[in-house]
Amino acid sequence: MDERLKDLNHIGIAVEDLEEAKHLYCDILGFELVEEKDLPDRGLRVAFLSTGNTTIELLKGVTPESAIAKFVDKRGPGIHHLCFEVDDIDAALKGLDEEGIELIDAKARPGAAGHPVAFIHPRSTMKVLIELEEK
Ligand code: CO
Repeated sequence: MDERLKDLNHIGIAVEDLEEAKHLYCDILGFELVEEKDLPDRGLRVAFLSTGNTTIELLKGVTPESAIAKFVDKRGPGIHHLCFEVDDIDAALKGLDEEGIELIDAKARPGAAGHPVAFIHPRSTMKVLIELEEK
């Protein structure tokens, strides 16, 4: 089984003001809004933007308890995570665990785009929060 990370799926950016961020990325920088939706179980509203080959996920915390709201409170808006595709997320998580890599999600869960996802703890990845998404 090939457990390596594959292509970058998207870059997650935490924002304070989703409308302002969409204006910047879409109206000024030229991204296209692909999808926007609420993820109530995670206290989030997300917008996926695309250039065709590159996708950005804008993340806005809509409840004070959401991890994104806490992130923005602590550090301000900015790059939150990088998401890479994997062929088999269970195999990838098992392989990482065996390497001693700390996982936020020991098991995959449904992500914003509906595919199984899991996060690797930034303590184990030189402070870069990495999301894996099975494609
Ligand atoms: Co993401």
